[in-house]
Amino acid sequence: MSVPSVTLNDGHKMPLLGLGTWQSEPGEVGKAVKTALELGYRHIDCAYAYLNQKEIGDVLQKVFAEGKIKREDVFITSKVWNTFHSYEKAKENIATILSELQLDYIDLILIHWPMGYAEGAEIFPKTEDGKKMRYSDVDYLETWKAAEEAKKSGKVRSIGISNFNHLQIDRLLDNSTIKPSVLQIELSPYLTQKKIRDYCDSKNIFITAYSPFGNPGSSMFRKSGDPCVLNDETIKKIAEKHGKTNAQIVLRWITQHNIIAIPKSTSAERLSQNFNVFDVELSNEEMNAIDGLNKNWRLVDIKERDGDHPHFPFNEEY
Ligand SMILES: NC(=O)c1ccc[n+]([C@@H]2O[C@H](COP(=O)([O-])OP(=O)(O)OC[C@H]3O[C@@H](n4cnc5c(N)ncnc54)[C@H](OP(=O)(O)O)[C@@H]3O)[C@@H](O)[C@H]2O)c1
Repeated sequence: MSVPSVTLNDGHKMPLLGLGTWQSEPGEVGKAVKTALELGYRHIDCAYAYLNQKEIGDVLQKVFAEGKIKREDVFITSKVWNTFHSYEKAKENIATILSELQLDYIDLILIHWPMGYAEGAEIFPKTEDGKKMRYSDVDYLETWKAAEEAKKSGKVRSIGISNFNHLQIDRLLDNSTIKPSVLQIELSPYLTQKKIRDYCDSKNIFITAYSPFGNPGSSMFRKSGDPCVLNDETIKKIAEKHGKTNAQIVLRWITQHNIIAIPKSTSAERLSQNFNVFDVELSNEEMNAIDGLNKNWRLVDIKERDGDHPHFPFNEEY
């Protein structure tokens, strides 16, 4: 079964389901991408900061060389990291991303976060006590200029943002020549993000949902007692009715809202499971029941570390 696509505000098409690659270990990520492409995935979500793009690039090269899947069949996203926010550094980061992924163009480049960190060799430039990041005062509008240039040059097809709040997007829209096509944010049944979804609908910006399962495997962000949508009883009842797993119902709920989902897996069984979600249609009642599970619970909660950055996006519920 092929995956439906959405048409972005610049005319490019983007598949509603893709493969996430954060925390996909070296030695595993390449296999996961290869398996995913064999299963029919045509959208891979990458980032410079995941430190695994070279291995993904190697696999893409091999797969394209075999000839069954062409470059233009696969939608590749990557993200400019926080230590590359000044105009020249952002341009450099985009060039590095192209070279790591071994591609002539990237389908979508996002600014990973609105906050800039101190520019230099370290990806996470920590303060001496290791508790905070060293910040830069570069404005994300400068980073956006580099993204606009990359789009104009053809090296990047579409440009967007990640982890921006609606005030920051408004500011971007007021100060740019090219509108963002996509906003990537954390979104799951426990963080339904209704306000920013409505805002983005009104601006014709598509949403990509990251951590759609609340990343049950994350030792970095999960705390004991955190809820898990994969064990949720309401979702389980719906899943049993359709002969699906909780994970599949979560992905169908997201995509049925016309939101793009990028679940991560390195297991062949779960890659296959996560791909097979378009053969069910949830009823309005089932969609509403899952909408009703929202508890504004965020997995990627870095407020303690970065909350005093002038561009930190999540100090208020937007
Ligand atoms: N823009 C951003 O700031 C940002 C932040 C976070 C994530 N992202 C992107 O979004 C992607 C997805 O988010 P995520 O990786 O945080 O979390 P996620 O997709 O919600 O969860 C991934 C975890 O769930 C497990 N899993 C996958 N499918 C499963 C299934 N069917 N049943 C049970 N467990 C399953 C995976 O383990 P196995 O691998 O062992 O299957 C992994 O531990 C990332 O990989 C990344 O590409 C972006």
